[in-house]
Amino acid sequence: QRSLLGLKDLSRDEIEAILDRAAYWESRPNKIEPVLQGKFVANMFFENSTRTRFSFEMAEKRLGAEVLNFTAAASSVQKGESIYDTVRTLESMGIDAGVIRLKPIGVLAELAESVRVPLINAGDGNNEHPTQALLDLYTMRKHFGRLDGLHVAIVGDVLHSRVARSNLWALHKFGAKVSFCAPPNMQAPELDAPYVSFDEALRADVVMMLRVQLERHESGMLKSAEEYREHYGLTAERAGRLAPHAIIMHPAPVNRNVEIDDELVEHPQSKIFTQMEHGVPIRMAVIERAIL
Ligand code: CP
Repeated sequence: QRSLLGLKDLSRDEIEAILDRAAYWESRPNKIEPVLQGKFVANMFFENSTRTRFSFEMAEKRLGAEVLNFTAAASSVQKGESIYDTVRTLESMGIDAGVIRLKPIGVLAELAESVRVPLINAGDGNNEHPTQALLDLYTMRKHFGRLDGLHVAIVGDVLHSRVARSNLWALHKFGAKVSFCAPPNMQAPELDAPYVSFDEALRADVVMMLRVQLERHESGMLKSAEEYREHYGLTAERAGRLAPHAIIMHPAPVNRNVEIDDELVEHPQSKIFTQMEHGVPIRMAVIERAIL
């Protein structure tokens, strides 16, 4: 039984094993293979989600697990119950694993120490989003056949991005080069990657656009959507300068015509919906690893 709290402390071999297992699940013709029959998984989302929540549920059901969906807004969290008491409650009822998304940073590691049930991080504050980065790595590895030597430019709201952090830490383990491009007030200088101009970012093999996370902004961080698009948006004109082999990625949800132009979301070089497709086999591999 293994938790997955982040990729920073996971070895390259462990990450590779998850990617390989996801490839196995992606290749399986049957929609349901009940290897987790009789197991119970709780999806505990203390922050909103569409992709992560539903792809975990899809993954759990494809493996034959029983699924409990917990949504903070419809729970006793509204009466002031703590995250710890919520997880302990579900643990005492007999769940075999918990998938958890949290707003505060630093709570998850403490929580994992205090409960026996394996926990899977579905995004904690701006710290890590390991299953998103795993599906991103999977998408890159599948497209290019390797990760080693790739140049990945991550563009946008790096400061608030758990996706940027998990990708950075994982990609470095595989010998990929990571560059950031961000407005000065959305940079995270403590992270180990150089900041480059948008022109340089456009020369990368992968241009990963980040959502402007308005819900995490202090007031005044974003002057206007138009101004952001002009300086840091992947416009159709900028996309026209990408190398023919380059791919566009974005974890979604997308702010159309802010960080990426509407017409680029389903552009031939865009992998945005492919990323979502890969989220299911990746989460099957992660759930299986947690329970079996
Ligand atoms: N990419 C991602 O985590 O999307 P959701 O917030 O919809 O889960």
